[in-house]
Amino acid sequence: MSTEALKEIIELDKKYYMNTFGDRQPLCFTEGKGIELTDISGKVYKDFFAGIAVSALGHAHPVLTEALKDQVSKLLHTSSVYYVENQARLAAKLCEVSDFEKVFFASTGAEANEGAIKLARKYFYNQGIDRYEIITLNKSFHGRTITTATATGQEKYKAPYKPLTPGFVHVDINDVEGLKAAVNEHTAAIMIEFIQGESGVHPVTLEFAQAIRDICNKEGILFIDDEVQTGVGRTGKMFAYQNYGIVPDIMTLAKALGGGVPVSAILAKADVAAAFNPGDHGTTFGGNPLSTRAGLAVMEVMEKENLVENSAEVGAYLKELIADKLGSNVKEIRGMGLMIGVELSSPVAKEVGKKLLEKQYLVGVIGDSIFRIVPPLIITKKDAEDFADALGECF
Ligand SMILES: Cc1ncc(COP(=O)(O)O)c(C=O)c1O
Repeated sequence: MSTEALKEIIELDKKYYMNTFGDRQPLCFTEGKGIELTDISGKVYKDFFAGIAVSALGHAHPVLTEALKDQVSKLLHTSSVYYVENQARLAAKLCEVSDFEKVFFASTGAEANEGAIKLARKYFYNQGIDRYEIITLNKSFHGRTITTATATGQEKYKAPYKPLTPGFVHVDINDVEGLKAAVNEHTAAIMIEFIQGESGVHPVTLEFAQAIRDICNKEGILFIDDEVQTGVGRTGKMFAYQNYGIVPDIMTLAKALGGGVPVSAILAKADVAAAFNPGDHGTTFGGNPLSTRAGLAVMEVMEKENLVENSAEVGAYLKELIADKLGSNVKEIRGMGLMIGVELSSPVAKEVGKKLLEKQYLVGVIGDSIFRIVPPLIITKKDAEDFADALGECF
């Protein structure tokens, strides 16, 4: 295909697609294999963005591909009215590798977070306790439904949609005193990302995470852990909370869970999960045979190919390489495993992003000076070295 084909797609997009993205990168990918993506003109790029931390197994992984082909040929969808084998098996698998006892599947991260918020409120409603308020962090990102946009601690995502869902307050990340001051007799839960992704890869400190757990224990309120981006190996552990040795009460997953097939999950401790009674929550597509088959294949490959360990090892190596190549051009390198934020000393991230694109590398650019590097978890040390060389040449 040619640049003519790309021109036509851009024209169709501009004419018919709602303009929520503005000018996109002038690229359209048609195939992928491993960490490589091929665009419509045949040019091959190395993907260090993974569709914003989604394609954990890279592209067209044979195990995921075969599992999906098999499932598509047998059964796509039934209904939650019936038992669903893959749903039951994936729920069991997620409980086996985490500290939770119950699972509910949905389709997107926002939907999982919305369900987690409902679960927290229902937990206190059942007990006749007037706790409904959710504390979240400034600069967080929890989704784009009205309620999850309200939970998101960034004004730009919610200002046009007022009135918002009542009962949300925000405090600064790592501000233990601010958090303590925000807790009151109506607080139901504290909801955080262990590493804030969207705003530039900002991890919470161990002290802050411990303070959240302590406050939740003392007040009898719930700790909600949004692992939509950090979950399923991204941070060098299966789940980010395991880096801290602190177990939340509710956790949400999405992005990497289906390796590109939309599936998200709410996981909870048994006593918390019990707050949902039949009829309290539901969704048509959540946990259908296809999406949960994808989840099972992702979990199988994560284990067989030791991708959690790979994320920890190659991630640490990549950070070292970037620090070495960029020297004083870099202000701070943040994150864990293969969730890396590089904050530059000057506001040239967009230019460097362009240069990287010329070198056929894809990364995420946040604002003027931050890169988000979230490659497939299958990358090798050699891939990391090649990327760091290319990045170094951009300066
Ligand atoms: C931490 C976090 N929570 C929630 C979401 C929303 O997920 P989705 O876009 O699938 O609704 C995102 C998406 O980037 C995210 O990073």
